[in-house]
Amino acid sequence: MIKENIEEALNKQVNWEFYSAYLYLSMSAYFESVGLPGFASWMRVQAQEEQVHAMKFYDYIVARGGRVNLIAIEEPPSSWPSPEDVFEETYKHEQKVTGLINALVTLAIKEEDYATRNMLQWFIDEQVEEEESAYKALEKLKLVGNEGSGLYMLDKEFALRVFNPPLSKKG
Ligand code: FEO
Repeated sequence: MIKENIEEALNKQVNWEFYSAYLYLSMSAYFESVGLPGFASWMRVQAQEEQVHAMKFYDYIVARGGRVNLIAIEEPPSSWPSPEDVFEETYKHEQKVTGLINALVTLAIKEEDYATRNMLQWFIDEQVEEEESAYKALEKLKLVGNEGSGLYMLDKEFALRVFNPPLSKKG
């Protein structure tokens, strides 16, 4: 059986992951509205991945005999000054999530909950990838700027990102 404070912390993370999905879907909608369908698609894939993250925590709480409590998801921003600002925020957001995962690991170790510590390793590894993909996208955007043919080409490239269904991912 899972300890109450661990259960509570994991439930908060379920909410954070769904908020992340909401944030990226909002970014996707923004890109649709400014005529960048490839960027919109990239963000839609990102939102799908966040839902997988949320459900991983959800399933783990259930597997440990805990209770999942879904609370309200905060409203995300809906517009940004430029595509570069969107990816600046994405990168910052992923860094924040990494901090939240690290805090969960610290709590699991303090409570001697080694099963939770072990489960969180997948997220530690995942956050390395999450930060890397956000950072690389941001760097490319900085290179091409916020308009012109460079942005058009990048939109074509970002359209190629595909969602890997959960079963094909490790963990
Ligand atoms: Fe669920 Fe993008 O971290």
